[in-house]
Amino acid sequence: METTLMILKPDAAERNLVGSILARIEASGLKIARLEMIRLTPERARKFYHVHEGKPFIDDLVAYMSRGTVVVGALEGEDAITRWRELMGATNPANAAPGTIRKDFAVDIQTNTVHGSDSPASAAEEIPYFFPKPL
Ligand code: CMP
Repeated sequence: METTLMILKPDAAERNLVGSILARIEASGLKIARLEMIRLTPERARKFYHVHEGKPFIDDLVAYMSRGTVVVGALEGEDAITRWRELMGATNPANAAPGTIRKDFAVDIQTNTVHGSDSPASAAEEIPYFFPKPL
């Protein structure tokens, strides 16, 4: 059993896509173990994406992630990290497989609607960043 972090980025709530995306997650068999709607400060968004510090897109990424409501969640299941990444599709929607969330909903490589942890190590860091205490 594995747990991974999910973020529905501001463009999801802005375009009324939250329910559609959560429905895809549940239809896949993954369990939504935690769920919260929050607004990130630029500082908190920057700290979350610390591995991208210094990259050319970091300032735009911080502005995007802090411009509106995000939905943060924890998804649970066998191979949850890989399964959530497969449901999301490639970072750049232009390269995402048909039927994936990013292929169907993402705007471009930055405004790509969803985030997921990319490894067990990043899940172990990212989940407590938003959910430090057990339910
Ligand atoms: P995410 O999977 O959340 O991880 C880093 C985010 O940076 C990515 O999704 C995009 O929202 C954003 N981003 C913007 N430009 C790029 C890029 N050239 N390569 C990777 N990520 C990018």
